[in-house]
Amino acid sequence: MSKVDVVLGAFYGDEGKGKIIDYLSTHADISIRCTGGNNAGHTIEVNGEKYAFRLIPSGVLNEGTLAVIGNGVVIDPKVLIEEIENLKAHGYSVDNLRVSDKAHVIMPYHIAMDKMLEESRGAGKIGTTCRGIGPAYCDKYERSGIRMQDFIRPRFADLIKRNVESKNKIFKAYGYPEMDAEAIIEEYTKYAEVLKPYVVDTVVLLHNAIKEGKKLLCEGAQATLLDIDFGSYPFVTSSNPTLGGICTGSGISPKDIGEVYGVIKAYSSRVGAGPYVTEQNNEIGDTIRELGHEYGTVTKRPRRCGWLDLVALKYAVMVNGITGIAINHLDTVGKLDKIQLCVAYNNNGEVTTDFSTTPEYLENSTAVYEEFEGNFGDISNITKREDLPEKAKKYLDRIEEVVGCPIKFIGTGAGRENLIVVE
Ligand code: GDP
Ligand code: IMO
Ligand code: MG
Repeated sequence: MSKVDVVLGAFYGDEGKGKIIDYLSTHADISIRCTGGNNAGHTIEVNGEKYAFRLIPSGVLNEGTLAVIGNGVVIDPKVLIEEIENLKAHGYSVDNLRVSDKAHVIMPYHIAMDKMLEESRGAGKIGTTCRGIGPAYCDKYERSGIRMQDFIRPRFADLIKRNVESKNKIFKAYGYPEMDAEAIIEEYTKYAEVLKPYVVDTVVLLHNAIKEGKKLLCEGAQATLLDIDFGSYPFVTSSNPTLGGICTGSGISPKDIGEVYGVIKAYSSRVGAGPYVTEQNNEIGDTIRELGHEYGTVTKRPRRCGWLDLVALKYAVMVNGITGIAINHLDTVGKLDKIQLCVAYNNNGEVTTDFSTTPEYLENSTAVYEEFEGNFGDISNITKREDLPEKAKKYLDRIEEVVGCPIKFIGTGAGRENLIVVE
């Protein structure tokens, strides 16, 4: 490992980042979440038991790894406490959890606002997770947000009163129920007491660790095409899940970053609205959804499914400086008779491999596919890439050839052990 390695989603999220983090954290001293909030759901399966991480870095399962929630994350205190309790109930220690004093807090009015704004968008709705993520980031940038360091101090009450007063004007204008500041203060003061021991200046902590030669692993949430700048705006999340967000969301210097792993599935999925060139809104998509169990970890929403899009992947490699690809669900595509791989777009008659998130560009693009043989048989216990069936190898080789980036991990099943680490 380099000083700091990074795992990022390369497509529209849910690529199996949790699983790759789980493996890599066995070599890391510190595992860090840098962006997003509990819109993320990262699944790890250990001995048949499923853990769905929302805020706590999934590396926490690895005993001895310090788990850090960085300044770029927005934290719903209730959810964080639920996660802590759940881990404790399963026998895991959370003594090694640290939460940035600069991370912003999601309040009940953010969640209500998220739902209200979604409803008001009507047919143009984004399909947010309604977890208050966008409104919490809005307050951060508008400079009225409440940080963890405010939350655990007496000034919290005054900040809540001021914010609730201004939010209530908006709720009233939309005809939505207003909030009661005193009730929020009473309930959330209890949560602040629980979380107080975990709150520290994580920027200093991370830099000291780097100086001491410790290995750090950053766990990206969401994904490249959901990025507020580089994704399919407005159908995106309200943070930068790309590499820049890792630095601003943790305080880690770009100079310290080594490997950047971009996670994909051997097909693709998207949850929520927005363009999706390789979507199979048909029987094939339905089959992939069932074979891959493509239902949201957090919201349980059925995910839209389709083929792997190498035009989009090349873009993700470009904007993140991805040094290695982790491809999950090879077992899932291997259950199909035929697999389609998108190697280019036909944009208004012109065949191109350039990606753009401009809505007109994506609306006017259709996928150019190459067909591959499926029916790989059971590959879940294969531990070396060279031992995979020829048909599977052909598919992987072509992905590397088109994208020009090596595959470093291959997921062959949901379990922790179903992973090929490419030498
Ligand atoms: P994340 O948000 O990127 O961490 O991904 P999610 O946890 O939301 O979704 C990935 C899903 O795929 C989870 O249910 C994982 O258990 C599952 N998964 C991950 N890798 C593999 C794989 O290689 N094969 C199969 N069959 N399932 C996998
Ligand atoms: P992980 O980390 C998949 C999507 C939502 C919606 C859009 C905006 O598990 O890969 P938001 O609540 O963030 O304002 O919603 O972004 N979205 C995700 N889709 N995986 C995620 O996280 C997501 N986080 C947000 O569905 O389309
Ligand atoms: Mg997920």
